[in-house]
Amino acid sequence: MKNILVTGGAGFIGSNFVKLLINKDPGCHIVVLDKLTYAGNLKNLEDVHQKSNFKFYKGNICNSEFVHYIINKEKIDTIINFAAESHVDRSILSSHEFINTNVVGTNVLLEAARNFQLSKFVQISTDEVYGSLGKEGQFSESTPLSPNSPYSSSKASADLLVRAYNHTYEVPTLITRCSNNYGPYQFPEKLIPLMIINALNNKSLPIYGDGMNIRDWIFVEDHCEAILEVATRGKIGEVYNIGANTEKPNIEIVKLILKELGKDESLISYVKDRPGHDRRYAIDSSKIEKELGWKPKHNFENAIQKTIEWYLSNKKWWEEIISGDYQSYYKQWYIER
Ligand code: NAD
Ligand code: DAU
Repeated sequence: MKNILVTGGAGFIGSNFVKLLINKDPGCHIVVLDKLTYAGNLKNLEDVHQKSNFKFYKGNICNSEFVHYIINKEKIDTIINFAAESHVDRSILSSHEFINTNVVGTNVLLEAARNFQLSKFVQISTDEVYGSLGKEGQFSESTPLSPNSPYSSSKASADLLVRAYNHTYEVPTLITRCSNNYGPYQFPEKLIPLMIINALNNKSLPIYGDGMNIRDWIFVEDHCEAILEVATRGKIGEVYNIGANTEKPNIEIVKLILKELGKDESLISYVKDRPGHDRRYAIDSSKIEKELGWKPKHNFENAIQKTIEWYLSNKKWWEEIISGDYQSYYKQWYIER
């Protein structure tokens, strides 16, 4: 891995990954291709923009000509694909862009990896491809794919294409499937940043259904370290689950945020449930722990505090976001639905 194309590198996880990679491997050349959708933000990459081994291209992963141009020009040997439409609720409002970017875009990148005989293609996938769990059990890499939302179906479709390109054309692929991330630079449409920001603004905190849906949380830096392990040492053709064994019902997270911010629980408001809402996720990450020796370094109590502090000291970052198109999305999903 020397010349690495990180697609979606201006988003939440992609930008955290770029910063980790540039610090851990100053000898590598990192090229970010990002469409800068509502979720992409060059401010997320401010720390690395001036580095001589970093380059940014604004563009769409569905544009095969542009992807080929970058691979040629930058002598790319590895693609790590973070680029995606990533929010379940938006996929329920409209699935079109999810199919374009997550399915067609991944296929464009796989074709490029095949044609240019790249040495690695890493697909950043999600535990949501496995569907929903009952009270017991965990998702393992052999759990059948059973996605429930347009978002997770588009990610599962991409995973199947990755599998097919490995099987049919011997493209050297790897897939990671991680649980729910939290941490700095997460777009405030997702549970944790949305609740922190609403609480800071004394706005109501909208909890779907009974608040007892369970997610399995991981600090974004732990996820990024795991991706780096998989990209450098993972076995070609394999899937690796990533998680930190931190299952929490949503209501518990929201109450914790209110407590940390010294705000009253009367801000909580139970709202209409997300259609098709997956009840519980829990991920078994024993394969990556045993085979690659990766383990999460952060515990939830410290890392959620660190996250809350980041949003407290980076008000300008999120105020700019919530003052734009975000308001029309918020109105459409939370008020008019
Ligand atoms: P995000 O929405 O914050 O970032 C996505 C990035 O992709 C943005 O910068 C956006 O501009 C870019 N992008 C979107 N469409 C594009 C296109 N057509 N061409 C080029 N760039 C495009 O998402 P995230 O939370 O950082 O997630 C990154 C990846 O990780 C996604 O593939 C997601 O499915 C996966 N994932 C996310 C989580 C999570 O909890 N957030 C967990 C597991 C896996
Ligand atoms: O599991 C990995 C997935 O985690 C990623 O693949 C997705 O990209 C990422 O968005 C995330 O999906 P979720 O749907 O689990 O995350 P979200 O933050 O949207 O919601 C977390 C839980 O909180 C879920 O049960 C829905 C609930 N929720 C969410 C929001 C935004 C609420 O109750 N109220 C809200 O306003």
